[in-house]
Amino acid sequence: MREAPILKADRLSRHFPVRNAFGIRTGAVRALDGVSFEVAPGETLGIVGESGCGKSTLGKALVGIHPLSGGAIVFEGEEISRLSGRERRAVAPRLQYCHQDPGNSLDPRWTVRRSLEEPLIVHTELEAAERVIRIRDLLRQVGLPQTHLDLYPHELSGGQQRRVGLARILALHPRLVVLDEPTSGLDMSVQATVLKLFGELRQAFALTYLFISHDLSVVRMMCDRVAVMYLGRIVEIAPTETLFRAPQHPYTQSLLAAIPDIGGRRVTDTFTLEGEPPDPARLPSGCRFRTRCPRAVAACAETDPALRPLRPDHAAACLLAG
Ligand SMILES: Nc1ncnc2c1ncn2[C@@H]1O[C@H](COP(=O)(O)OP(=O)(O)OP(=O)(O)O)[C@@H](O)[C@H]1O
Ligand SMILES: [Mg+2]
Repeated sequence: MREAPILKADRLSRHFPVRNAFGIRTGAVRALDGVSFEVAPGETLGIVGESGCGKSTLGKALVGIHPLSGGAIVFEGEEISRLSGRERRAVAPRLQYCHQDPGNSLDPRWTVRRSLEEPLIVHTELEAAERVIRIRDLLRQVGLPQTHLDLYPHELSGGQQRRVGLARILALHPRLVVLDEPTSGLDMSVQATVLKLFGELRQAFALTYLFISHDLSVVRMMCDRVAVMYLGRIVEIAPTETLFRAPQHPYTQSLLAAIPDIGGRRVTDTFTLEGEPPDPARLPSGCRFRTRCPRAVAACAETDPALRPLRPDHAAACLLAG
């Protein structure tokens, strides 16, 4: 990565308390447990992994929806994780989170017009007449007809709700957008048009994306690099083609083996993913993947492997990788 990163995540952690039936704290879920990575300006970094591995927690922690339990975030050269509420709000428009559930991100009592006008009132100095023009532009940019301005969220399809959610975010001139499962719940043809729109907006607004998805074929199509998460950690990170062609971590190999076919040939048929991930509040000793890993050896129960570079742009957290 030659250019200075737009975002630098340094050992991010986010712990949620676990309480028993009496409300007494009995432990913690380490939803994020020492996650570090960098994103270059204009890049799309994919985040993949099974349900519950911490993808949304990561996205929300980056934009300040979740406070961090530890670590630091440097965004456009500024350490933002220790800012006061007011200072952080000044950064917020440039760093946006696009909700996993688009219906949830829109107020059911507000028309599309009101949903789009609200961020302009809060974050810009635009006059009412200027806001009307800007709202029309935004709607056009996300490919919705002007007639939709007076509709409510329940009158929109899932794909249209997503477009309105995107327009709301674009209203703020973001630099980096976290897209959380941006195609979930959409049928294939709508998925294709929404993905095309992401590509166009990335160009038009010089956006950087963090692209969270469990759909590996979509990730392969959209992302420049991919980070694979397992139980709150990044276990492998590499350029997309490298990751799909030559995955090094047994977990990534298993994930890819779970998609039978990519581009007409099998990516790998070495591993299949067995069983459920362990309870995140009771992690195994050593490597957290060892209980499901077909290659685990005795040392894997002793040592918790750090993410280490195998090549300059490819890192994996496995004692046996490389
Ligand atoms: N507000 C919360 N309070 C307590 N635990 C939480 C909270 N939010 C998330 N968690 C826990 O943190 C872990 C990671 O959750 P997260 O939503 O980040 O997963 P995810 O990778 O986005 O999953 P999915 O693919 O299903 O969206 C899970 O074990 C979850 O139960
Ligand atoms: Mg999620």
